[in-house]
Amino acid sequence: MARILTGIQSSGRPHLGNLLGAILPAIEISNIPGNESLFFIADLHTLVSLKDGATRKANTHAVAAAWLAFGFDTNKHIFYKQSDIPQVCELAWILNCFTPYPMLANAHSFKDKSSRLADVNAGLFTYPVLMAADILMYNADIIPVGKDQIQHLEITRDIATAFNNQYGETFVMPKVQVDENVMTIPGIDGQKMSKSYNNYIDIFVSEKELLKVVKSIVTDSKGLDEPKDPDTCNVYKIYELVADADQIADIRAKYQAGGFGYGHAKQVLFDVLWNKYAKERELFNYYMNNTHEIDLKLKAGAEKAWAIGGEVLKNVKEKVGY
Ligand code: ADP
Ligand code: TRP
Repeated sequence: MARILTGIQSSGRPHLGNLLGAILPAIEISNIPGNESLFFIADLHTLVSLKDGATRKANTHAVAAAWLAFGFDTNKHIFYKQSDIPQVCELAWILNCFTPYPMLANAHSFKDKSSRLADVNAGLFTYPVLMAADILMYNADIIPVGKDQIQHLEITRDIATAFNNQYGETFVMPKVQVDENVMTIPGIDGQKMSKSYNNYIDIFVSEKELLKVVKSIVTDSKGLDEPKDPDTCNVYKIYELVADADQIADIRAKYQAGGFGYGHAKQVLFDVLWNKYAKERELFNYYMNNTHEIDLKLKAGAEKAWAIGGEVLKNVKEKVGY
């Protein structure tokens, strides 16, 4: 049995890029028989950049609601919130003392963010150590993440090795898993869809709001009658990711034939987005109106996670002499 673990930051409401690029592929991995998944909301990590408490709470609920709406099985797997097991900070402190300063100072993510951000706090610096604690505390085997996280996994392995060298085999050595097949979902301006670029599609909003966003997708200025190239059109690029094969073939032919305007294309994209995710939208809204149910599920998940993590931490503390 492989234990799969990954953390999901609650730095915003989940958008179509997060869903297709992270949430759905992770749920698929969790459905492989024999895998045990620990998925958690990395709400401690979000404090590095997000300071508003009410926003953090709302985002944490929204991220959890999206996972639940898309069918993540919280009975079979372990779904929890990082801050519900504050002992991870205790482990992070211990691991800090096995982390060479230059390793953190030279990490790409730190160098990149510290050169751009106004708030360069110590949390940003020690971010990878808390992430190592997230992973090592649960004896996780496989960590599915995006490419940008590969170095954080190398740091985790280095820290685990340093500890194991000092005290003997203690931590399981985790392996990174990067899915090369996961596409980058384009946003409404054709760049990578991201909160930071404000070019995202939130599929959980009202009909009116969704239509407004779809209408704002950037296109060229070809007239209704002119034939159009679907492959360079931002509307089509998103349509292709959500429609089924027959619909895609039909719309492709319409683009090429002419007489089909961008207004029409946007309407068909809206229809797919609105109808395809109707059930998930309803469930998402249900959970957002009943956040106590989310909290109960996360608490139950935290108890299951602590049953694993508590043992690991106890062993670590004994080894270091506490
Ligand atoms: P954002 O760029 O909106 O801040 P995050 O960095 O919080 O998104 O991403 C959360 C997860 O969603 C990560 O696993 C990331 O790889 C995935 N993800 C985000 N945007 C996209 C996208 N446009 N296409 C594919 N995956 C994405
Ligand atoms: N740093 C990860 C990200 O930004 C989130 C994360 C925190 C994580 N702890 C983790 C991912 C542990 C995997 C394992 O996407």
